Amino acid sequence: MYSVLKPALFALDPERAHDLTIHSLRTLGSALGSRPPMAGRSVQIAGLQFANPIGLAAGLDKDGEAVSGFSRLGFGHLEVGTVTPRPQPGNPQPRVFRLTEDRGLINRFGFNNAGVEALVSRLDGHPYTGILGVNIGKNKDTDNASAHEDYVFCLKHAAPVCDYITVNVSSPNTPGLRDLADAERILDVIKPVLDARVNLSNRRGARLPIFVKLAPDFADDDLARVLEALMAVEIDAVILTNTTLARDGLKSPQGVEVGGLSGAPLTKRSTHCLRVADSVIAGRLPIISVGGIMSVSDCQSRLALGASLVQLYTGLIYQGPGLVKAAIRGTV
Ligand SMILES: Cc1cc2nc3c(=O)[nH]c(=O)nc-3n(C[C@H](O)[C@H](O)[C@H](O)COP(=O)(O)O)c2cc1C
Repeated sequence: MYSVLKPALFALDPERAHDLTIHSLRTLGSALGSRPPMAGRSVQIAGLQFANPIGLAAGLDKDGEAVSGFSRLGFGHLEVGTVTPRPQPGNPQPRVFRLTEDRGLINRFGFNNAGVEALVSRLDGHPYTGILGVNIGKNKDTDNASAHEDYVFCLKHAAPVCDYITVNVSSPNTPGLRDLADAERILDVIKPVLDARVNLSNRRGARLPIFVKLAPDFADDDLARVLEALMAVEIDAVILTNTTLARDGLKSPQGVEVGGLSGAPLTKRSTHCLRVADSVIAGRLPIISVGGIMSVSDCQSRLALGASLVQLYTGLIYQGPGLVKAAIRGTV
């Protein structure tokens, strides 16, 4: 099926293809409703029970418009967002590029989203029974000194409609955002979030787990120091990795575009980050691996290297939605 659809989608401008996909999945979800996750190897982390280890990465359904549609693909968890306190348009178009020869994408969306309140009204009382995460960020015009206020605002609003929150300090497309993630500063954002979490529960009335999503562009020592800082406080999992600013060995002419690179060119880097993190963390914190997972065997190898869960984005664009069920079957 996807072999027929893919050439048609790839003939469109990538943002148009994305919008059409979301629209189709939204329509499918409204017509057929939500579906429970496909049973696979179940995973228990952060007090949450995942029916299988395969999840949807943040950024594909930023505004949570197509949760029911995505649920039908079998995922054990869906992460929507990134959302910010106030709606914002993101960067001017074009802002997403296909690197077809490299099986990658470059995007510089810049957190275009309808704001956390719109997301909350869409997710409120949602029938999806799988694990639902909300990925939160800061508005572009909020300076870094006040960034924690944006994260706490989103946290308080989104907590009652989701199962976990991801703090995104790793997008390369919001100027200065990654500066929040060095070992000296990361707790300036994370501590206020953890303090606010104490008075909140998730949509199941249980403790709200907080995950932190990191970039792949750290030197190994810096990544180790950030992870040590995070392990000194009560976060529940780390998500590794977001897109990269590196541009190694690309064949596609679109490789010169500014933004975050994802897909196959990220596989090696993201796998390396997982290896480093696994050795530093030594079982003390669950790791969710994302970045260049393009096949069932990529899923298997990330889990074998110590990830508890994996997430997909660019692999879905190149391999199609069938990758989800194949990966669930392949990781039992
Ligand atoms: C077009 C696009 C938009 C993205 N938007 C977000 C986002 O809003 N928040 C976020 O945390 N990650 C975002 N990501 C990063 C993905 O969640 C994922 O971490 C990254 O793409 C690496 O995985 P992949 O190689 O499987 O795509 C985005 C990625 C792409 C390609």
